[in-house]
Amino acid sequence: MVVRHQDRSVRCVSRDARLGGIPPTSPGRKASLPVPASLVVHTPAKLNVYLEVCDRRPDGFHTLETVMVSIGLYDSLLFRRIGTEDVRLTCRHARAPAEAQAATDIPLFNGTDNLVVRAATLLRQRTASRQGVEITLVKRIPIQAGLGGGSSDAAATLIALNQLWNLRLPSPVLHEMAAELGSDVNFFLDSPMAARCRGRGEQVQPFRLPRRLHAVVVCPPSGLATADVFREWSRSAVASSADLVHQGAITQQRCGQPSVSQFVSTMQQQRGMGSDVLPIRNDLEAPARRLNRDVDAALGALRRLSHGPVGMSGSGTACFTLCQTATQSRRLASRLRLSQGGQVFAVTGRA
Ligand code: C5P
Repeated sequence: MVVRHQDRSVRCVSRDARLGGIPPTSPGRKASLPVPASLVVHTPAKLNVYLEVCDRRPDGFHTLETVMVSIGLYDSLLFRRIGTEDVRLTCRHARAPAEAQAATDIPLFNGTDNLVVRAATLLRQRTASRQGVEITLVKRIPIQAGLGGGSSDAAATLIALNQLWNLRLPSPVLHEMAAELGSDVNFFLDSPMAARCRGRGEQVQPFRLPRRLHAVVVCPPSGLATADVFREWSRSAVASSADLVHQGAITQQRCGQPSVSQFVSTMQQQRGMGSDVLPIRNDLEAPARRLNRDVDAALGALRRLSHGPVGMSGSGTACFTLCQTATQSRRLASRLRLSQGGQVFAVTGRA
């Protein structure tokens, strides 16, 4: 995640600062951090290159083993401190020309349900802060695509307001709030190059890759709600077993052992990204395909044109393939744009 101070020279802040300012254990450095009046944050999307659904928990969530990578497709958020106690959000599509922006506001995402507003409200409740903020969210990451856009925006909000409101919350406190907001928000607090995530997805173990990842992402014109896809997974799990509890016990024993560890070590060792070395797994792909035909079309087009591994991200509907080089991914994206509805992106992972 890149954070920029608007009211003085542009800089990328250090990891400590990104995670909410200097921890209280460093009093000497605390005093030297000036509090900005406004901030811009460019916050990335993710791809799930491995997603195993283990079982359904009593709270309705599902236990996962997943491997996520950050990719260079960003939403941008501008935070401006204001004199009142309000949290105001305006959300726009990046592709709209400035003069037409009023017409392209996304009303659905301007409301209090938006994760950005929920993150700001949670911060205020936890710290009893009475400060206000005006937030402009410029969307580039497609919604309902399984690319984590909403979660990434929420993480950016926690990080930015911690600085802008001078709250000085340490990283573990921000992580607690992130887990309350959504299953993927913790990943985006650090936006590591890659991470193995467990639990609901909120337990993040970052790791490094030997080289940057190149991918082409196809986002169909229609999306899927995460809850619907998990419900469909559960429905088929029930249908395939008369005894769900028994089945849950079996999958729990098996979950992540050894397939996810093998997958992670393959990623860490292999310099190439051929389909033979990195078979993408996503247990939500079958339910997503049953719910939305666009997923089939996107996967089909990618399989026809790509030599690399192909899969779906998160709960869909975005599908992707991995490429060896940036040139290869740009060429493939151009070809896919000729045949695909929706959006096609050539992206690079973080270094
Ligand atoms: O955590 P998040 O808000 O992203 O989840 C959205 C919905 O997806 C949840 O309400 C839940 O129905 C489903 N979900 C799940 N298991 C997970 C993550 C999400 O069942 N591990």
